[in-house]
Amino acid sequence: MTLDGKTAILTGASRGIGPYIAKSLSAQGVNIIGIARSASGLDNTKSAVEANGGTFHSHPFDLTDINGLESLVNQLWTQYGPIKILVNNAGIEYSQHFDKMTREKTSDILSTNVQCPIELTRSILPKMIAEKEGHIITIASLAGKKGLAYNSIYSASKAAMIMWSDGLRQEYADSPIDISVICPGFISEVGMFNDDNIPPPPMLGASKPQKVADAVMKALKKGSCEIIVNKGPIKPLLAIGQLSWKIADTITRWFGVPALNRKRISV
Ligand SMILES: NC(=O)c1ccc[n+]([C@@H]2O[C@H](COP(=O)([O-])OP(=O)(O)OC[C@H]3O[C@@H](n4cnc5c(N)ncnc54)[C@H](OP(=O)(O)O)[C@@H]3O)[C@@H](O)[C@H]2O)c1
Repeated sequence: MTLDGKTAILTGASRGIGPYIAKSLSAQGVNIIGIARSASGLDNTKSAVEANGGTFHSHPFDLTDINGLESLVNQLWTQYGPIKILVNNAGIEYSQHFDKMTREKTSDILSTNVQCPIELTRSILPKMIAEKEGHIITIASLAGKKGLAYNSIYSASKAAMIMWSDGLRQEYADSPIDISVICPGFISEVGMFNDDNIPPPPMLGASKPQKVADAVMKALKKGSCEIIVNKGPIKPLLAIGQLSWKIADTITRWFGVPALNRKRISV
């Protein structure tokens, strides 16, 4: 796909990893429609993108308004013309013992991380198919590849996104639509993990947010794919997990992941 002059919707564009993705997309000439709740956060991203000669349209919107997503997509399509790229980046997490989770918190995570990307995609996909061009990129997480203690709903939401993308990729393999999923591990400098100010487990480390933006750009060049963004090699652990959950649990505990997530509860 030639990127110059294309239009992309980027959710979660107000802070964290989103602004990095926005800057990388705009560096390739992509016009961005940025969505998040915070108008001031979106304006900061808009200023950064425009300072580099890019185009960024701010659209403050609460993505948990699932019933409003279809008309949002229709409105944006009418206003900006064909949208060729959707980056489902917005997400939330909440560290807590599962038995202390409220129904409200659980439903907030599932609607932001699962229902919203699914409904946004369902609204835009027929239009992309009619245009014979489109790429849906979802930012999932390594938490969807190996469950996280004290963050199990978040893990479940990201596993859902990985398998949903997996199914879609196969379903649309013979169409002009590309489906990609990015699975970052811990991210430093900005974002939900960094905000808690707890260092990552030394053996796992953390990747810079630009690596996630680079993965999005790689997906756009490559076409449908799944990309893991992690400081060190993690695929062997994931492969072991397919053979033995017991060994994978032991290694995960040895890396200090459950202990780290337990600390995040009290942050
Ligand atoms: N940071 C990490 O270590 C890490 C690792 C793996 C995967 N990820 C994934 O990467 C993505 C970005 O994470 P991040 O670290 O950049 O998170 P973040 O700093 O917490 O930012 C989250 C973004 O999502 C937006 N958002 C959240 N709820 C929303 C809602 N109801 N409506 C509209 N926008 C909403 C936020 O904007 P407003 O608050 O302004 O609405 C913000 O722009 C997420 O999907 C996350 O799960 C992050």
